[in-house]
Amino acid sequence: MSRGHGKVILFGEHAVVHGRSALAAALDRGAVAHAEPATRCSLRVDPWGFEVELGVAPADPQLVDLERALRGLLGACRVPPQRGLCVRARVELPPAAGLGASAALAVAVVRAVGRALGQSRSAAEIIEVVRPWESVFHGNPSGVDSFLATHGGLVRFRKGQGGTVVRSNAPLHLVVGHSGQSGTKRMVDAVARRLERQPADTQAAFDEIASLAQAGEKALVAGDLTQLGSLMDSNQQALRRLGVSTPKLDTMCQAARQAGALGAKLTGGGGGGCMVALAESKRRAREIAAPLLRFSQAVLVTEVSA
Ligand code: PMV
Repeated sequence: MSRGHGKVILFGEHAVVHGRSALAAALDRGAVAHAEPATRCSLRVDPWGFEVELGVAPADPQLVDLERALRGLLGACRVPPQRGLCVRARVELPPAAGLGASAALAVAVVRAVGRALGQSRSAAEIIEVVRPWESVFHGNPSGVDSFLATHGGLVRFRKGQGGTVVRSNAPLHLVVGHSGQSGTKRMVDAVARRLERQPADTQAAFDEIASLAQAGEKALVAGDLTQLGSLMDSNQQALRRLGVSTPKLDTMCQAARQAGALGAKLTGGGGGGCMVALAESKRRAREIAAPLLRFSQAVLVTEVSA
């Protein structure tokens, strides 16, 4: 099975689209895929039961983008037109949640296709070929999702420059709560419109987020989790001012803090989707997860170390 990782952004979503650095960590779950020769090219994605065949307009309008994304991906992979491939994938994350499920799926599919056709691709080449797929689902992606889906790890990421590994001096116990469907593309567009309307104010918010990401990296390297949590809280305030949080995400962040989180913020595109809370230990992470289950369809307790 070929794999792509999901991710959580610890600092810097949205600002990263506009050239600031973000700090993000890959999740140990994401998507897996397998491809084998067939008469036609098709992709099935479970557990969602989505199935598309290349060049066949899907009856379900929801799947039109998936067929278009697959077409872009197989074209970029230079799959010869006469080759058929049956690709089966399993996504281990909720869709449209801000956890990079679509990039994880794309990377797993590219790796599976490469394996089936005997193609070998460097990480940089994989990131390049998933670009058309990510444009279908994201519009204007920074590339942080596909970078982490491919490389894994804990990184400082900058659009156009890629990622640099960050070494944390403490394991990060994270609790991820899902508030419902996110609106990444809608939120990225809304932030771009805000930047046009209120350039000075919006650039200042991006700069503030960039400083928080920088300070967050220092806190990680120093293993100062209390400081890290407080910086995450400040990032959440800045995201609220940018208009990408929701009352439910705010409430969930508040509930996590009340349950002992060192800090909490939305993660990913916002407008719904996930929040992430930092806990000082595994035990505390489980205590924080409990009240979040009241709001959340799914709560994930995970550990990131680098
Ligand atoms: O919602 P996600 O997992 O696609 O994360 C989006 C992160 C943004 O910074 C809002 C967009 C991007 O491409 O970096």
